Amino acid sequence: MSLDSPQEVAGALRAASYLPDARIAQVVFLAARLDKPVLVEGPAGVGKTELAKAMAAVTERRLIRLQCYEGLDEAKALYEWNYKKQLLRIQADADHDWDTISHDIFSEDFLLTRPLLEAIRSTDPVVLLIDEVDRVEVETEALLLEVLSDFQVSIPELGTMTAVTRPMVFLTSNNTRELSEALKRRCLFLHIDYPDPARETEILKARVPGLSDHLADQVARVARSIRSLDLKKAPSVSETIDWARTLIALSVEEVDEEVLGDTFHVLLKYQVDIERAAKELTSNPAR
Ligand SMILES: Nc1ncnc2c1ncn2[C@@H]1O[C@H](COP(=O)(O)OP(=O)(O)OP(=O)(O)O)[C@@H](O)[C@H]1O
Ligand SMILES: [Mg+2]
Repeated sequence: MSLDSPQEVAGALRAASYLPDARIAQVVFLAARLDKPVLVEGPAGVGKTELAKAMAAVTERRLIRLQCYEGLDEAKALYEWNYKKQLLRIQADADHDWDTISHDIFSEDFLLTRPLLEAIRSTDPVVLLIDEVDRVEVETEALLLEVLSDFQVSIPELGTMTAVTRPMVFLTSNNTRELSEALKRRCLFLHIDYPDPARETEILKARVPGLSDHLADQVARVARSIRSLDLKKAPSVSETIDWARTLIALSVEEVDEEVLGDTFHVLLKYQVDIERAAKELTSNPAR
């Protein structure tokens, strides 16, 4: 698959059922061209994680995912020694001298590789997704920096392992905290916001089989109206997809006041939001 221009990237993503806007296609193109990680930021459910998955499909690369969470450490992100196996070896080889044994048990056979090391060691090029990076502590970011700047990992007992092939890297963030300047500097920045109705209509048609053009258009317009309200949690693309599926399941052909009132809970997850949206929209669903 040739990705020699933003237009080609856009076409390839579309073929993988991911509908990018011009900015997404441009940043992904540049990232591939400049060999830089992409830091994808934006609200929940706008297609950040999906972009990395779609690029793995487009480039026919394996996707390696590091799901970040508070407390994620080196042992879960990079590697750890397989203590159990080491212990068994020590017990089995009690007669041998310690030098031989320690040389053995700190070899690759006793290493448990975690996503970052796996991406570095892979002989086939991969897509590395570091998902929800804003959830790790600032100190843990330092771990990522060595990988992202040099594509290498140093293991005291084994030396430095350098990537054979450079992974294509995506980091995603919901912006729950500021990321370090050092991390940002290494990445191309991509903000993804809610799609405009035209793109959301396309996304819905790609993701919801059997959805009519008319209904897709109505769903996208209602989604935009609802997002313009002052809500606790605006509906994401995943929720509009669920809503479109709901409408099909209920054999709805036309969104009216009654349908809206009956199905708001698929789009909105707070009772105050449902009440506010009901008040504002039921008199004019697709304004
Ligand atoms: N541009 C798009 N093209 C096709 N599908 C999309 C697009 N954007 C979002 N989607 C759909 O929305 C769903 C949610 O997207 P995704 O899981 O990538 O959201 P996210 O931004 O990673 O959210 P979170 O911050 O909650 O992890 C996807 O499974 C996909 O079906
Ligand atoms: Mg995600």
